[in-house]
Amino acid sequence: MRAITVPEPGGPDALVWAEVPDPEPGPGEVLVEVRASAVNRADLLQRQGLYPPPPGAPAYLGLECSGVVGAVGPGVTGWEVGQEVCALLSGGGYAERVAVPAGQLLPVPAGVDLVDAAALPEVACTVWSNVVRLAGLRAGETLLVHGGGSGIGTFAIQFGAALGATVLTTARAGKHDRLRELGATHAIDYREQDFVAEVQRRTDGRGADVILDIMGASYLGRNVAALATGGRLVVIGMQGGRKAELDLGALLTKRATVAATALRSRPPEEKAEIVRGVRDEVWPLVEAGKVRPVVDQRLPMAEAATAHRLVEGDHIGKVLLTTR
Ligand SMILES: NC(=O)c1ccc[n+]([C@@H]2O[C@H](COP(=O)([O-])OP(=O)(O)OC[C@H]3O[C@@H](n4cnc5c(N)ncnc54)[C@H](OP(=O)(O)O)[C@@H]3O)[C@@H](O)[C@H]2O)c1
Repeated sequence: MRAITVPEPGGPDALVWAEVPDPEPGPGEVLVEVRASAVNRADLLQRQGLYPPPPGAPAYLGLECSGVVGAVGPGVTGWEVGQEVCALLSGGGYAERVAVPAGQLLPVPAGVDLVDAAALPEVACTVWSNVVRLAGLRAGETLLVHGGGSGIGTFAIQFGAALGATVLTTARAGKHDRLRELGATHAIDYREQDFVAEVQRRTDGRGADVILDIMGASYLGRNVAALATGGRLVVIGMQGGRKAELDLGALLTKRATVAATALRSRPPEEKAEIVRGVRDEVWPLVEAGKVRPVVDQRLPMAEAATAHRLVEGDHIGKVLLTTR
C-alpha cells in the first residue's frame, strides 16, 4: 500500500507518498481501507519530529479516517467486511489501509458522506470527552470556545449550541460570520479585542461556565478571569506555550476548576469508552443535522504538503486527504 512517510522531519515538503508494507489486523483489530483522513494540528508537530507516536501506534501520520472494513482480526465481533466506518486512530490515517482497535471504530452517521465522515472522530471525541464528560456543560450555561475556526472549534460551537448552551468564541475577524452561522451567539476578534472584557459584557458580568482552551500558557490568567463562579476551564492545546503562573486565589474565590487532557496518549480502553459515549450522545445530534462536519477542502493524499500549508495558514474547519 501507499502511505505518507516522513523520511526526515521538517516542513510540509518532508511528507512523501511512498510504498510501504501493508498492516495486518491483530487480535481485536479491524483493517480499514481508508477513503479519507483529516489533518490535525498535532500532525504538523509530528511532521517536524516534535510529537512522536505513542508506543504501539502506527508510524504514519493521521489521527482519524473514514473508509470501508477490509478485514476483521481474531476475536472481533460486530463489524463486517464492506461496512462503511470512521475511526479514531493513534496514527496511520494518512495511508491506504490502517489497522485499528475495534473499540475505536464508529459507523458513518446517517446523512454524512463517507469522505466527510473523516472530519468527525477526533473532534467529536475530544470535544465530547472534555466539554461534557469532564466539564459537565449543561443547557443554559455559557461556553467559551477559543479558536472557533479550527477543526475543534467549528465542532465545539455546533455541539455547545445543540446542547442548549450560549456559545461565545474567539477567532480572527474574517471567520466571524461563518462561526455565527454554526451557532456562536457572539464572536470575539482576539487580535483586536480583550476577550475577558467581551465575555464579561456578554454574560452581564457572570463569566463563562466552561472554557475550551487551545492556547495554554498565554491565556491561562485571562481564562481564569473570564470564568464564572463554579466555572470549568479545560485546556487541550498549548499553542501559546506550556508554562504560566496561576493565581490560586482567583480560582479559590470562584470555586473554579482547571483541567488539561490529551486524547492520543490515552490507553485503548479509555479511547473505546469515549468512542462509545460519542456514538451514544453525539451521533444522534449529527444524524439530526444539528452538528455537521465542517470541511474547508478535500485534497488527494499525495498532496498532503499542500494540506499542511493550508492548516498552518488560514482555514475554517477540517482539511481532508482522500485516497482517490
Ligand atoms: N488535547 C487533545 O486531546 C486535543 C485533541 C485535538 C486537538 N487538540 C488541540 O486543539 C487545537 C485545535 O486543533 P485543530 O487541529 O482543530 O487546529 P487548527 O484547525 O489548525 O486550528 C488552530 C486554530 O488556532 C487559532 N488561534 C491561533 N491563535 C489564537 C489565539 N491567540 N486565540 C484564539 N485562537 C487562536 C486559529 O484561529 P484563527 O485562524 O482565527 O487565528 C486556528 O483556528 C490545537 O491546539 C490542538 O493541538 C487537542
